[in-house]
Amino acid sequence: MFSNLPEHVAIIMDGNGRWATSKGLPRKDGHKEGSFAIDRLLEISLELGLKNISLYAFSTENWKRPISEINAIFELLNFFIEDRLTFIKEKGIRVLHSGAKSKIPILSNKKIENAIEETKNNTKLNLNFCLNYGGHEEIIQSFNKILENRIKLNEILEKEITIEDIEKNLYTYPLPPVDLLIRTAGEQRISNFLLWQIAYAEIYFTNTLWPDFNKEALMTALEWYNNRVRKFGGL
Ligand code: FPP
Repeated sequence: MFSNLPEHVAIIMDGNGRWATSKGLPRKDGHKEGSFAIDRLLEISLELGLKNISLYAFSTENWKRPISEINAIFELLNFFIEDRLTFIKEKGIRVLHSGAKSKIPILSNKKIENAIEETKNNTKLNLNFCLNYGGHEEIIQSFNKILENRIKLNEILEKEITIEDIEKNLYTYPLPPVDLLIRTAGEQRISNFLLWQIAYAEIYFTNTLWPDFNKEALMTALEWYNNRVRKFGGL
């Protein structure tokens, strides 16, 4: 259908709170509705043959939210992973996590680890949950891992750090770079998401709130991407 399908689509799923408020509902209902948008996204992605999807589910900055909302998001995540695991397994989806495990509630870490383990041989679609994720933090931990390894091997000052060294130690490794970054709900910023991986990404902003994101919205984004001429610094 599209001659040029992005290999890796990353999404900043913004607007759950506004969706709920506009309907006189509590914010947590917006997140729940947002989880149904993920269901739709998975169905269409499988149909289209998308290979890698990264979802910004919880950032390192989201800890500043009221504890009641933080709890609601993690409870929803726990429910979502358990409830959808059969579908995910049957459809050949592989679950991945990008972000620091520290601070994530124990139960959520267990559910994610279990989903990662149970789907590790799946190859149809990589579904990368970015949870307790921050782009700066990811790059810093990559350097720290490189250092740690070099200290162990006693080769700390032997060679310069390369792009490959850094990429191999990112949370997203071995996912390819992001080709298309989508942000919903009208804001036009990156919010510390996949900073390294979006170096040459096309960035698509839409006013659609995440809970309203549907097949038509994704097709519009993919059509827009399909019409972009990517130059990667060349002519
Ligand atoms: C941004 O909307 C959304 C989040 C911080 C959380 C994303 C969570 C989900 C889509 C729900 C379920 C997640 C999983 C993985 C099942 P916002 O609250 O910042 O909206 P606002 O800007 O309108 O207030």
